[in-house]
Amino acid sequence: MKALGPIPPGYEHDAEGRLLIGGHDVETLVEHAGGTPLFVYDSERIALQARRFRAAFPDVALHYAVKANPYAPLLEAMAELVDGFDVASTGELGKIAHLGLPISFAGPGKRDQELETAIRAGITINLESEGEAERALAICQRDGLTARLAVRVNPPFGLKGSGQKMGGLPSQFGIDHDRAAALVRRIVEAGADWRGLHIFAGSQALQADALIKLQRETVALAASIAKEAGHAPPHVNLGGGFGIPYFAKDEPLDVEAVGEALAKSLAERPKILASTEFAIELGRWLVGEAGVYLTRIVDRKESRGKSFLVTDGGLQHQLAASGNFGQLLRRNYPVAIANRFDAEPEEEATVTGCLCTPLDLLADEAMLPRAEVGDLVAIFCAGAYGLSASPQEFLSQPRAREILV
Ligand SMILES: Cc1ncc(COP(=O)(O)O)c(C=O)c1O
Repeated sequence: MKALGPIPPGYEHDAEGRLLIGGHDVETLVEHAGGTPLFVYDSERIALQARRFRAAFPDVALHYAVKANPYAPLLEAMAELVDGFDVASTGELGKIAHLGLPISFAGPGKRDQELETAIRAGITINLESEGEAERALAICQRDGLTARLAVRVNPPFGLKGSGQKMGGLPSQFGIDHDRAAALVRRIVEAGADWRGLHIFAGSQALQADALIKLQRETVALAASIAKEAGHAPPHVNLGGGFGIPYFAKDEPLDVEAVGEALAKSLAERPKILASTEFAIELGRWLVGEAGVYLTRIVDRKESRGKSFLVTDGGLQHQLAASGNFGQLLRRNYPVAIANRFDAEPEEEATVTGCLCTPLDLLADEAMLPRAEVGDLVAIFCAGAYGLSASPQEFLSQPRAREILV
């Protein structure tokens, strides 16, 4: 038996035992959406997270990292909850440009055409290298434009315990911290509108201590770069990295503790940052637990003493749950039989998708209520890096549906 991840708190069932999402039972949601596989996103859960952030970080702007979930209705709902969007491509920019919030654009390998689009749209470009800076400045000179440029810094430290370490290493992300001040001076002297610094060091951290330390170091680094450059940054994006529990024994992040410590760091910040506005950019923590992936069992079979529940979904929609999205060790996500959400676990079963690869596992040797053909399987924590981070074209299976409730 292999443990399942923890189901996010607050998911209930109706009198017939059917999982409720946003107050709607799963069968009705599936019928309404036209079938499975289906991603359901609960807007109230997202709003709750945003409110929780606001309470914990009253003096810090909240940005949404579109890469976590770019579903259009979700982005529209998000526009009411956050102060800005962070995009990683002009494709993402196209999805949120009409929503009227400040936008920043980070990510390596921005093509000249993307830089030009971003400059003309008046959004902030988080520069990933000196070469990118020169290409942006050349576009401005050629076309008589002024770019809004921020310097993304590759810090000398990382985020401890982070599922995705993006600092303290040689990296394609950001400019090494000891060259950042020189680049700030270069872009200011070239006449660009310098927007400040972006320091993102990692993702999926569950330990408050690690984030507290990281944010303290990040504020200090921003101040030291600003002093060396001789310019006060209008904005400092402190990155994010807030994680959610996916696996057995994962404990939720104590966001309030992080907020309290950051307020203290900011209250004591060096003078050069006195007028700086701070932002945190989050994806997963805002939307991850609000999403549930629903897939229907199409076959039940026994093989050499093991029970298999074969569904109409799979890793082509929910790669992360299969363990193939950067995990070193495959572990089970939180999974349940959604139309028997009130039933006790009674058998060990392996839930698979319908792809012709043994990698296509949604839950391995998990204790579940007995399930039959036609039952619905729910994979929780599917709101971030779900559909858009999965190889939907693989094996030309039907596309997944999405719905925001
Ligand atoms: C620059 C940047 N910002 C924000 C994010 C979002 O991270 P998360 O969804 O873990 O909050 C990422 C994720 O890799 C990132 O690279």
